[in-house]
Amino acid sequence: MSAAVRLETERLVVEPLLETDIPEFVAYRRDPEVARYQSWSSDFSTDHGVALAASQPVGFPLPGEWVQLALRALPAVADARRVLVGDIAVGVDAAQPATFELGVTIAPAHQGAGYASEALRATIDLLFSQHEAHRVVMQGDARNEPVLTLMRRLGLRHEGTILEGDWFKGEWTTLERFALLRREWLER
Ligand SMILES: CC(C)(COP(=O)(O)OP(=O)(O)OC[C@H]1O[C@@H](n2cnc3c(N)ncnc32)[C@H](O)[C@@H]1OP(=O)(O)O)[C@@H](O)C(=O)NCCC(=O)NCCS
Repeated sequence: MSAAVRLETERLVVEPLLETDIPEFVAYRRDPEVARYQSWSSDFSTDHGVALAASQPVGFPLPGEWVQLALRALPAVADARRVLVGDIAVGVDAAQPATFELGVTIAPAHQGAGYASEALRATIDLLFSQHEAHRVVMQGDARNEPVLTLMRRLGLRHEGTILEGDWFKGEWTTLERFALLRREWLER
């Protein structure tokens, strides 16, 4: 088993979500705008948070597993503790374990500060440089402009539109899929 992800970027620590994160984590997951294009709803509860924290893999995720990573930033106040500004999820494809899928959520109060870009860029670099990734993929609802902008900003390549491919929250929805290959990452 390889070690759990722990990264430091210019402004963030990226590390596994802890039980102590649950109140802040649940608070932003309950925001209807945050939940809108995600797999959960605004009734996401503390029990859901506890269950998710308890189901986390120990160490780096195995094929078929996902790990939820906390993004912690230093607030502007000197000596203050790092606050949970959001999280990213890293999934390892069950059939193609050199393919990693990423998802991201930033709490509304911390959106528009570049935290998602900063954390994902560092995570993508880690997956290619230390975990033998061949492909890193992300997908977003076609109506979710902020995530489409983010995927383009990260330099992911648009590779497909899954037109009305997903029965989601009571309607057929379209997904945009993006990817980055190891050789594309190396060419940068
Ligand atoms: C998708 C989501 C994560 C994007 O968050 P975000 O804060 O816009 O993304 P970033 O962290 O990359 O920030 C980019 C913005 O910060 C600004 N910014 C400020 N300081 C910055 C810095 N140092 N570096 C980069 N960008 C910076 C950019 O100009 C950009 O602003 P703009 O959108 O007005 O152009 C966010 O909208 C979200 O959590 N949505 C709800 C959950 C969701 O749907 N997730 C997608 C499922 S995969």
